[in-house]
Amino acid sequence: MERLDCNSGNYQCGGKCQPDSFNCRVGQHRSSANKALSNAARQASLKYQKGKLLGEGAYGRVYESLDGIHVIKEAKDKKHDFSNEIAYYNKAHSLGIAPKAEPALVPHEMILTKITGKKLKDMSNITIDDAKSILETRQKLHEAGIVHNDLHYENVMKDEVTGQWNIIDFGSAGPINAADLITELTDTSDFFGGKLFEADPNSELAQRYAKMEPMLENLVRRRGNGSMRDGYRSFSPKEVKGILRKYYQMLWNEAN
Ligand SMILES: Nc1ncnc2c1ncn2[C@@H]1O[C@H](COP(=O)(O)OP(=O)(O)O)[C@@H](O)[C@H]1O
Ligand SMILES: [Mg+2]
Repeated sequence: MERLDCNSGNYQCGGKCQPDSFNCRVGQHRSSANKALSNAARQASLKYQKGKLLGEGAYGRVYESLDGIHVIKEAKDKKHDFSNEIAYYNKAHSLGIAPKAEPALVPHEMILTKITGKKLKDMSNITIDDAKSILETRQKLHEAGIVHNDLHYENVMKDEVTGQWNIIDFGSAGPINAADLITELTDTSDFFGGKLFEADPNSELAQRYAKMEPMLENLVRRRGNGSMRDGYRSFSPKEVKGILRKYYQMLWNEAN
């Protein structure tokens, strides 16, 4: 059986492993038939290893993974569990508007497909087509019954390879309800940082978008005397769907 040299190539175990030992962590004592297998395993394990730091927030950090095609999101709180965020990511991924997510080796980390591209925040001169795509992306999420609850221009990224707009950071996402939906639809200028129509403020879509907030106020005749949230809480799921449908009909200027 061909032996691979412990101290050759990328494999450096320092010769400490036993010949043919499958405990050899880098696999250099294995036969050449196993070499491809161990290379594949090594490549797969790189997914879980952290490289360059991409972002840091109050909750934790996001790193590039060493395989170059994923990112690793790590919570500071070791008790944090990413399963909820992973589930929402994958619902959004199935709609074609978010990267794929999977568990890491520990619950307080998760793995995402890396988006090669830029955040909306770091882009200038957004075209009307892009603005339209971003709003359509948000619409897809809402129509699938999801509110993001932290939608802003740092959580919207354009994939430069596919040209697709993606929403990221589903840590606060939840099932659709009137209060969260209306917040997500009305705070839009803050959420998108004024970027959407920066380059083309006089376009038809920009003009219509500017009217969406008062239009939404008209549409949603708030009920009850309690707080705003209490008032919205009385909307049934059917009414929420109705608000959503009318909002986007109006935005896209479609006939009722
Ligand atoms: N899938 C990804 N591909 C590329 N960069 C990402 C990806 N996910 C997150 N990032 C980068 O990491 C940053 C932080 O990630 P995010 O999930 O938004 O966490 P936070 O809660 O800190 O905002 C993002 O703003 C973005 O720059
Ligand atoms: Mg974020």
